[in-house]
Amino acid sequence: MIISIYGAGYVGLVSAVCFAKLGHQVNCCDIDKNKIEQLQRGNTCLYEKNLPDLLKEQIINKKLEFTSNLTDAINYSTLHIIATGTPSLQNGKADLSQVFAVVRKIVQETTRDCVIVVKSTVPVGTGDEIEMLISDLLIKHNKSQKISVVSNPEFLREGNAVEDFLKPERIIVGGDKEALLGLKHLYQPLIIKEIPIIEMDRTSAELSKYAANVFLASKISFINMISQIAENVGANIDDVCKGMTYDKRIGSQFFRAGLGFGGSCFPKDVKSLIATTKDLQLDAKLLQGIETTNDFQKTWPIRNLTEHFNGELKGLKVGVWGLAFKPETDDIREASSLVLLDFLISCDVKTYVYDPKAMDNAKKLYQDDSIVFCHSCEEVLENKPDALIIVTEWEIFKKFAPESLKFYLGDAPLFDGRNCFNPDVMKSVNLSYYSVGRAVIKNTD
Ligand code: UGA
Repeated sequence: MIISIYGAGYVGLVSAVCFAKLGHQVNCCDIDKNKIEQLQRGNTCLYEKNLPDLLKEQIINKKLEFTSNLTDAINYSTLHIIATGTPSLQNGKADLSQVFAVVRKIVQETTRDCVIVVKSTVPVGTGDEIEMLISDLLIKHNKSQKISVVSNPEFLREGNAVEDFLKPERIIVGGDKEALLGLKHLYQPLIIKEIPIIEMDRTSAELSKYAANVFLASKISFINMISQIAENVGANIDDVCKGMTYDKRIGSQFFRAGLGFGGSCFPKDVKSLIATTKDLQLDAKLLQGIETTNDFQKTWPIRNLTEHFNGELKGLKVGVWGLAFKPETDDIREASSLVLLDFLISCDVKTYVYDPKAMDNAKKLYQDDSIVFCHSCEEVLENKPDALIIVTEWEIFKKFAPESLKFYLGDAPLFDGRNCFNPDVMKSVNLSYYSVGRAVIKNTD
């Protein structure tokens, strides 16, 4: 099929590259000219596993092209996939201006009947709003084309997006039967591999996306809440998890206590669903609890550091391992590291940080002299910090030899916000060790 994709961010770019890989002819459009020039040269502009090679392959195979000219993209096909950003507004609602701007342009420019596929995460009811906008614009421009709107939410995890796209657990499509035929054709290469395609009405498809993300976020906040209780009563979160997850109804995935969830999706989607719930005058307390628990959990290193040093943090040297909101990405949006760094700056602490991929993004945000960007995890330790805090569970940190940690840290405590180490091992090397939902280990030096 011949398709146009609008937005070359995580979702748009991964979709464009993967649809091309599935055999379609793809034109990907973004208004950022600089980004498009980079993409035309085969540079992804973002860190995503397997994406660079696949991008180059599809450009060479002439399956994928890029443009910053919306009119070109609109004339290219009759299947328009919108994957532009929907950031949070001040009031928690999703900002739909980019989505609507693309829709307006499509209606204005198209000379053929077409289908608009909404892949961006949009609040429930947005498809109906788009449909109304389209009929107003058709009247205004005195046009008679048939333009259908369908919903096709994405379930890509950053860092695993290519695999999630090419081997999804399910594909959800929402809209009227006729409009969905094109989408089923589009996904045929996956459908023949027995990937389930679930058809529903458009509103249900929109709600499915939020319900899935917010449910996963609630699992994380739930286990973090239990970890807070465990810390207070002297229980061990690993054992509690084991005790729960043998029950298949609960399931063991997405149940790791830590420093809370971040990224561009969960925090935004929880906020947006709260806003929708309130608009409907329903009780949003359950959803609000997910957010407040997460905000509190992000302060775990701050609370423990403050307690350990009796509130006297000024002048300390602190090491931080990890800035990205999770491993295998360079993304620091809503990352727990941001809450920590802001706090350390406010306390006049000298902070030595290292992350395998997110340093450049963090450098753009933090130009404060008190933050020192190191070239390796060893370099952080060579600066003899008074404490080390692990914020992201990168493999390189998890594999760091405990004896070396003891060598560098000596008496200095390790605050492990992602439970990367086994407390028994930390005890055996005589480290002072704090972890989430588990007993504190004090060294005996
Ligand atoms: C999430 C969903 O997992 C995808 O299915 C969805 O398509 C995507 O949002 C989206 O809406 O576009 P992503 O934001 O890339 O994907 O990240 P996740 O891997 O889901 O992790 C989110 C956060 O939860 C991270 O900060 C991670 O550290 C945290 N997390 C995850 C935990 O704290 N504990 C866990 O057990 C799992």
